[in-house]
Amino acid sequence: SATNRLKIATIPGDGIGREVVPEGMRVLEAVGRRFDIAFQFDEVDWSCDYYKKHGRMMPENGLDQFRQHDAVFLGAVGWPEVPDHVSLWGLLIPIRRDFNQYVNLRPVRLLKGTTSPLANRGPEDIDFYVVRENVEGEYSEAGGRLYRGTENELAIQESIFTRRGVDRVLRYAFELARTRPRKQVTSATKSNGIIHTMPFWDERFAAMKADYPDIATSQYHIDILCAHFVQHPDWFDVVVGSNLFGDILSDLGPAVAGSIGIAPSANINPEGDFPSMFEPVHGSAPDIAGKGIANPIGQIWSAAMMLEHLGHKDAADAVIAAMETVIADPASRTRDMGGKAGTAECGEAIASVISAG
Ligand code: NAI
Ligand code: MG
Repeated sequence: SATNRLKIATIPGDGIGREVVPEGMRVLEAVGRRFDIAFQFDEVDWSCDYYKKHGRMMPENGLDQFRQHDAVFLGAVGWPEVPDHVSLWGLLIPIRRDFNQYVNLRPVRLLKGTTSPLANRGPEDIDFYVVRENVEGEYSEAGGRLYRGTENELAIQESIFTRRGVDRVLRYAFELARTRPRKQVTSATKSNGIIHTMPFWDERFAAMKADYPDIATSQYHIDILCAHFVQHPDWFDVVVGSNLFGDILSDLGPAVAGSIGIAPSANINPEGDFPSMFEPVHGSAPDIAGKGIANPIGQIWSAAMMLEHLGHKDAADAVIAAMETVIADPASRTRDMGGKAGTAECGEAIASVISAG
């Protein structure tokens, strides 16, 4: 059951993260007033700036203070003077792994008022979810390098697929499909080329399918699946993939649904043992940071996913409806969507539609 007092760990991070997170908070406050939800935002300055001062992205044991929070609301992390693997492995990956956020969820939905780069596609054609395994698979630290700098140099990178890890993300995908009208799950595989882990993934998919006779299933090799995302986005409802395949699909999906500036994502611990984390798909955008022109909608849509995850579906729906209303008005769109509005103007417009509702 949903509680009406929510403790949110807030990490604006770097670049435009610091510009769009306040707009997400503004919209949450507005929807909170309407639906009687009180937010406590506990903000920290963990970022590449923090790294430059302290030599690390966050304090040691920094995450301990957030274990009891309801969710983490994050902007973007990364800045040119700090190598990307340092910022990623120093902040985002520790949060995902320490809080066992083993599902990465991205809606791929063409919002009313936006246009797809695909010709002749409307909102009714593009409405699905990508479910990515988020803590194991191809992104492992197992492996190594030998004979560096010599002609015998070699690198080995191992993939780790556990029955527990595969089953739980597949189960999440099937459960999600049950909540949707089309009730369909598609598995991304490559069992023709990757001959140990991917046949294993297929076996677990077949076993899981037997538990869900009400769900229609299909599976495609990752290469042709990418082509189908472009040519037949209307075929998909819930698409589940390993960490690497899910990573690729979860950038391709939002790309067919419009601007990077509007795409949201969730890193979910489905059992609720730890907080889940909600963040836009985009990064810190150093090229436009500090100008007040970033699109806040990816952050605001992430706030809607957070509300839905915490049991406030009505509030989440109100945020998405307000986003669609505002996008329909060219005067409220930011530059990446062909308008002239600034970050705050767009956020204010969405908040005031919610307050008026
Ligand atoms: P990016 O997403 O920051 O920017 C790519 C392009 O999209 C840029 O031209 C940018 O101006 C534009 N863009 C992004 N978000 C926008 C928004 N809200 N409104 C309007 N335009 C927007 O990706 P990039 O440039 O590859 O990475 C920049 C930094 O961000 C790097 O340090 C990278 O590691 C980090 N990054 C962090 C992520 C995260 O925190 N989860 C995700 C992706 C990148
Ligand atoms: Mg990616």
